[in-house]
Amino acid sequence: MKHVITLNVNGDPYTVSVDPSQTLNEVLREELNLTGVKLGCGSGDCGACTVLMDGRAVSSCLTLAVEAEGKDILTVEGLAPSGEKLHVIQEEFIDKGAIQCGFCTAGMEMSALHLLNKNPSPTETEIREALSGNLCRCTGYAKIVEAISSAAQRMNDASERNQ
Ligand code: FES
Ligand code: FES
Repeated sequence: MKHVITLNVNGDPYTVSVDPSQTLNEVLREELNLTGVKLGCGSGDCGACTVLMDGRAVSSCLTLAVEAEGKDILTVEGLAPSGEKLHVIQEEFIDKGAIQCGFCTAGMEMSALHLLNKNPSPTETEIREALSGNLCRCTGYAKIVEAISSAAQRMNDASERNQ
């Protein structure tokens, strides 16, 4: 039997009818057309499907859609502040050459945002730990770590300027 759920995605409310076994990843990609959210392994091992749910990084392939009832979901489509401007994390991924095939990028950026929200000045070790659930087969990780470190610095500089 289908369940009707309401969830907020990237600031907008949606009501969708879902099967009890349907994952959040399926709803985001197939019902809401948010295909920036990737589906890799489908078993919680690669992190490509990472989104934030009430501020916590979760694997959308392992999260049932019904668990998202009433929750705030942030996907990579909601990361940039506007259509014209990318998020600092996205800018740094581009500037530092941290994107090759791009399949891991959305999940990496959402994990990075989760980390920087909790820990605005992470060490390299802390960044690597935060990315331990996100696999990249292309970049060797060094440029991704560098991009997140630079994004952290820029975000801190901006918040200091705003004080
Ligand atoms: S697709 Fe969800 S962890 Fe790999
Ligand atoms: S850039 Fe290809 S998997 Fe990370």
